[in-house]
Amino acid sequence: PNSQQQQLRQLYADAAALFQHILLNTKLGETALAYTQQRQLSPDLLETFNIGYAPDENNLLTRFFAEKKLDFNLLRHSGLFTENSDGTLRDRFVDRVMFPIKDGQGNVIAFSGRALTKRENQPKYLNSPETDLFNKRDVLFNFDLAKAEIRKAKQVVLFEGFMDVIAAYRAGIKYGVASMGTSLTNEQLYLLQRATEHLIVCYDGDQPGMKATNRVITLLHNDPRFQLSIVTLPEQLDPDEYVKKYGAERFRDVLTGGMETAVGFRLRYLKQDRNLDNEQDKLTYIDAALHELVNVSSAVERDIYLNRLSDSLQVTYEALVTQLQDYLVDAT
Ligand code: GTP
Ligand code: MN
Ligand code: MN
Ligand code: MN
Ligand code: MN
Repeated sequence: PNSQQQQLRQLYADAAALFQHILLNTKLGETALAYTQQRQLSPDLLETFNIGYAPDENNLLTRFFAEKKLDFNLLRHSGLFTENSDGTLRDRFVDRVMFPIKDGQGNVIAFSGRALTKRENQPKYLNSPETDLFNKRDVLFNFDLAKAEIRKAKQVVLFEGFMDVIAAYRAGIKYGVASMGTSLTNEQLYLLQRATEHLIVCYDGDQPGMKATNRVITLLHNDPRFQLSIVTLPEQLDPDEYVKKYGAERFRDVLTGGMETAVGFRLRYLKQDRNLDNEQDKLTYIDAALHELVNVSSAVERDIYLNRLSDSLQVTYEALVTQLQDYLVDAT
């Protein structure tokens, strides 16, 4: 690591400490602290995840680092500031709860800031831009703390958001990570692959979450490195909302006992916007469902799905098997 990178790391560590000090100990942070409490972020959790607050206070961070007489180019490349037209810097993060993003060793390499209130033309989460240290394809939120837990539990849970990872942690599930608001990358899968083969996807229970789950299934289709399980939360809730509404114990129950297979999820997902009372829709669904089963290598597992389809669609088991045989022959 060259000294520029060392200096950047120090800069982020200092910034994270300042943001946290403002949140925990200052009047400037009072509203944000109330917000974090309302979101069930206890002082312990704020500490564990180094959460802080960037206030709306006349470029506080810019002034803080100006006093330290740091190299201007270092500040410019840090991503913590934006440039005015006259070349001076101003704070990028204003009135946001700050989530430090860390590398696998726990060094802060970036930030994501959540707006306290919804504002026109303002993203809910603002990430710092990519730098020499921060390539978001390579990063999983909480991987630094989770990796030992993942090895211990022999599984990892993939969530959508920071708050979901933290809510799960609060509920005792410490082997959760989140990709940085993008779809899963090969780089992230490589990190996970070295820790476990059992990947549990627990995205938001809403339509975008189910769509994203479906994409992960497609991405990992026939990938020998992973065994996939899917958790779909009810009432369109995300994990954080679920823990808040139903409590830690029920959340743990869902995550340990409420999983389904990738194929099970897919059969449900394919059915979603079809009207199975319509014959054409029903035939199209059966065709799609049987094509899913072509890839199921276990005869027993295939039998379970065939029985399920037969029951729910009121088509004989024999007809489904006959059709599936055709597709199996097609596939060879
Ligand atoms: P909360 O509303 O704080 O509970 O966040 P959430 O995690 O439930 O948000 P959501 O389900 O909408 O999005 C999931 C994840 O996508 C977030 O945790 C972020 O990482 C990311 N994300 C959401 N909104 C934005 C955005 O406006 N900009 C960027 N860059 N990322 C976002
Ligand atoms: Mn979502
Ligand atoms: Mn969500
Ligand atoms: Mn949420
Ligand atoms: Mn076909």
